[in-house]
Amino acid sequence: MIQVAVMGYGTVGSGVVEVIEKNKAEINKKSGEDINIKYILDLRDFPSDPYADKVVHDVEQILSDPEVKIICETMGGIKPAYDFTKRALLAGKSVCTSNKELVAAHGPELIQIAHEHKCNYLFEASVGGGIPIIRPLNYSLTAEKIDAITGILNGTTNYILTKMEREGADFASVLKEAQDKGYAERNPEADVEGYDACRKIAILSSLMCGKNVKYQDIYTEGITKITEADFVYAKAMGKTIKLLAQSKEVDGNMYAMVAPFMISYDHPLSMVNDVFNAVCVHGNMLGDSMYYGRGAGKLPTASAVVSDVVDCARHIGKVIMCFWDNEDVELTGIEKASRRFFVRVPEQKEKEALHIFESASVIEADVPGEFAFVTDRMTEKEFNEKAEQVGIISRIRIEE
Ligand code: HSE
Repeated sequence: MIQVAVMGYGTVGSGVVEVIEKNKAEINKKSGEDINIKYILDLRDFPSDPYADKVVHDVEQILSDPEVKIICETMGGIKPAYDFTKRALLAGKSVCTSNKELVAAHGPELIQIAHEHKCNYLFEASVGGGIPIIRPLNYSLTAEKIDAITGILNGTTNYILTKMEREGADFASVLKEAQDKGYAERNPEADVEGYDACRKIAILSSLMCGKNVKYQDIYTEGITKITEADFVYAKAMGKTIKLLAQSKEVDGNMYAMVAPFMISYDHPLSMVNDVFNAVCVHGNMLGDSMYYGRGAGKLPTASAVVSDVVDCARHIGKVIMCFWDNEDVELTGIEKASRRFFVRVPEQKEKEALHIFESASVIEADVPGEFAFVTDRMTEKEFNEKAEQVGIISRIRIEE
């Protein structure tokens, strides 16, 4: 029997307990040994919970128990999760986590400590919730040189953009409705400003290149400036708007960014709606592959944590390879990246805009008082210089 502890009995932690209980037979069979939850760490008591007798308040009880071989860290945040995780790994206990903040901030250090102590730090649930994406990158696509990853990695913003598109609604009212229904957090900043997607693409980019992509270095723009009018134009262009997180290696330069993009309806990510997430991975031999599913939610996320528990149970005392070195990657600034841009200007600036942008495809849509167009391909730097000269209303990048 393998003894497991769950640290953090919130949404994901209670989901982990539920998954282990409900799928006991499958999980035990696939682990090769029975998995038993010995402790649940939380500050609170849960007197009416069926697992009330397993709840402890002192992490020392878990860390000092040699029987505990695997810990599920479902606390979230850096403190005290970082300290607890580090101590668990130093004690040779494997840790499985859904904590993207911690993985993005300290992933390579924690992986190294784990490996030095013949245990594992696994984080399948940290990106894309229940979608298997870390394991494919680590184990399946090992014959590939992966040169691009593009994903919809945040369910809240995808839900908001989908609603705005379908209902012609504005950002603020859709956000409020999402909060009232419990889909969006009361403090939605991490989601709507793109910070959550930024942590997740930092993790995927690091696995893509085997070195450390710092989330602080990734250009990040959220969806708060997207309006109903943008969707009117997008529709006229046969496109939709999605918050994309992407990283690409072009001619030895590594780019990573999070921003809203206009994408055509024939792009596979245009079909990813509501709270769903998807990740497109491009390998130099395989070409494109796509991973799609529930990127958030109690049971999908818990299922991914438990899949890591099974992996750890199969590898007690052994290291599961993960190539993510401590060496920081120098990202190339996005001002060098080149693309087309959708631009809105006040109607009186039509001539000036056409003169400054030289060549542009005009977009006809029912938005009074404005002139809109798509630029030729140009670098972000060139675009910013021209946009400043014209004085634009807004712009959205176009993903080809
Ligand atoms: N807030 C996140 C989202 C939860 O909306 O996708 C999953 O990481």
